[in-house]
Amino acid sequence: MDILGRIRYHREEEQKLHWRGTFAEYLQIIKENPQVAQTAHSRVYNMIKDAGVEEVNGKKEYKFFSDQIYGVEESIEKLVEEYFHSAAKRLDVRKRILLLMGPVSGGKSTLVTMLKRGLEQYSRTDAGAVYAIAGCPMHEDPLHLIPQHLREDFYEEYGIKIEGNLSPLNMMRVEKEYGGRIEDVLIERIFLSEDKRVGVGTFSPSDPKSQDIADLTGSIDFSTIAEYGSESDPRAYRFDGELNKANRGIMEFQEMLKCDEKFLWHLLSLTQEGNFKAGRFALISADELIVAHTNESEYKSFISNKKNEALHSRMIVMKIPYNLKVSEEERIYKKMIRDSDISNVHIAPHALRIAAIFTILTRLKEPKKQSVDIVKKMKLYDGEVVEGFNSQDLEELKKEYPDEGMTGIDPRYVINRISSAIIRKEMTSINALDVLRSIKEGLDQHASINKEDRERYIDFISIARKEYDDIAKKEVQKAFVYSYDESAKTLMDNYLDNVEAYCNKNKLFDPLTGEEMPPDEKLMRSIEEQIGISENAKKAFREEILIRISAYARKGKKFDYNSHERLREAIQKKLFADLKDVVKITTSTKTPDESQLKKVNEVIARLIDEHGYNSVSANELLRYVGSLLNR
Ligand SMILES: Nc1ncnc2c1ncn2[C@@H]1O[C@H](COP(=O)(O)OP(=O)(O)OP(=O)(O)O)[C@@H](O)[C@H]1O
Ligand SMILES: [Mg+2]
Repeated sequence: MDILGRIRYHREEEQKLHWRGTFAEYLQIIKENPQVAQTAHSRVYNMIKDAGVEEVNGKKEYKFFSDQIYGVEESIEKLVEEYFHSAAKRLDVRKRILLLMGPVSGGKSTLVTMLKRGLEQYSRTDAGAVYAIAGCPMHEDPLHLIPQHLREDFYEEYGIKIEGNLSPLNMMRVEKEYGGRIEDVLIERIFLSEDKRVGVGTFSPSDPKSQDIADLTGSIDFSTIAEYGSESDPRAYRFDGELNKANRGIMEFQEMLKCDEKFLWHLLSLTQEGNFKAGRFALISADELIVAHTNESEYKSFISNKKNEALHSRMIVMKIPYNLKVSEEERIYKKMIRDSDISNVHIAPHALRIAAIFTILTRLKEPKKQSVDIVKKMKLYDGEVVEGFNSQDLEELKKEYPDEGMTGIDPRYVINRISSAIIRKEMTSINALDVLRSIKEGLDQHASINKEDRERYIDFISIARKEYDDIAKKEVQKAFVYSYDESAKTLMDNYLDNVEAYCNKNKLFDPLTGEEMPPDEKLMRSIEEQIGISENAKKAFREEILIRISAYARKGKKFDYNSHERLREAIQKKLFADLKDVVKITTSTKTPDESQLKKVNEVIARLIDEHGYNSVSANELLRYVGSLLNR
């Protein structure tokens, strides 16, 4: 469809959704579909739930967030269950301000933006439909029209609890425009939209001295006082503060704790009774989710001030720490790059992963457990199999520091360093070493890093570099083998056949001649020696492998090349050992002969076709690995 066609289609679809009718007709709608009358909090919760929930390893993963927010599933689950879910059930937490607290660039704003954009969409669906008193600047809930003394009866008949009072403005309108006949009051379906200031608001603090409460709760419209005669006529008031406009939806309170404390006190009644004061009017009921965010140091200074106690006890604080998984961090960078102006630059394979390794290391705390070092911890956190550790060890590690992830390097810093390397050198291709170099150079300019941390971080860069060296070597060596996986599998099968015969004291048959032959001790040892298995330990190692194979068979699982970490390592090293000299000579010779040149071209082609390099990054990789092997 062409773009104009789509615009028209969209407009028509939108128009189909519009609805306008009397309050009497509206009651008919909620009789059939009581969900329409849900509170803002409940709508937010249902929106999250309707997007889908998946159980992964006993943990809930909310699809609503998982498209854009990675690696903090546990915090999100807590947020959804402890705040949104309870608030949806009309528990008291609903009246509290939700305060997201976390380190810089940890995704707080992203999370809130998703909620806002999500609600805008959701209000256009059947399940998320919202109705309001027509012409009301605060899109007031139509059910407020039901007078207090009839609400018991209403509950009997409709099963819906009504909270909040009709606002002064609508009270007056009902009298003046409808002669008191509430059944005739016009109701319309509304569509939440931040741009149109319907049900979605954002408040950001300005200079504390000039900050005006009118930004939150509206103000007198002096030009109309003459017309209406008095300041206390609600028609002479502009209900256009963020709290007014966000009614029925969500209000984001940016950098809340940067506000002057006196200003925040205005929020007390809102967080206590669910209503706020505007001008000289009776309290106005608010049906909205208020979500604020802040960083840890501002939060700490806020709670250390006794004067803030009352407000503090009316907030629900949820931590949004950094992600601590390398592979999720890599996804974050990919997403950020996709959305940036460097998306056309070639980023060599592993470059982002290596940067992520560095970043995660800066966020992790040194493990207390003796047998674990920080690199192993990092791998365990990322779900990698580390020989000798199981999921219980992982849980224990996590328990060591419940507040992990509140410090360290933020994703934006890494992206900035990548961009700056690209821009400064006018590169069209960037590899892991370029990224690490740029990160290192940037550490000096990073204002909030002290000397001690800088030294730790420099160590982490070396660790990340070592990881890269390993990966780079493996990548090149694999590319030298015509079909790496095939070769590894053949070698492993061969080894296993021999191990089986050895343990069962059987003979093998030569596949060509059919002759019986003893297990090939030399082959088995050449593999086992790669991972330091001594002559004395070989029997135990071989038996252990057989046990693993039969355990797999019992469970109906296939034992393959990846099923035994150390065996895989041994096979890999053996393959590479056989290759080492070829790789070394071929990659480092300055004047390759014809056959070497052919091999190099083959390897480069394989790196490009199968491993995601381009010709620049593939050549850089070969040169680098050549230099590593010759050290
Ligand atoms: N866990 C995460 N998953 C996905 N993206 C993330 C995550 N953490 C940070 N980001 C990305 O990092 C960038 C900065 O995040 P955002 O602005 O939401 O952070 P913030 O917590 O609001 O930071 P600040 O305290 O600086 O306002 C965004 O592009 C965001 O998408
Ligand atoms: Mg932010």
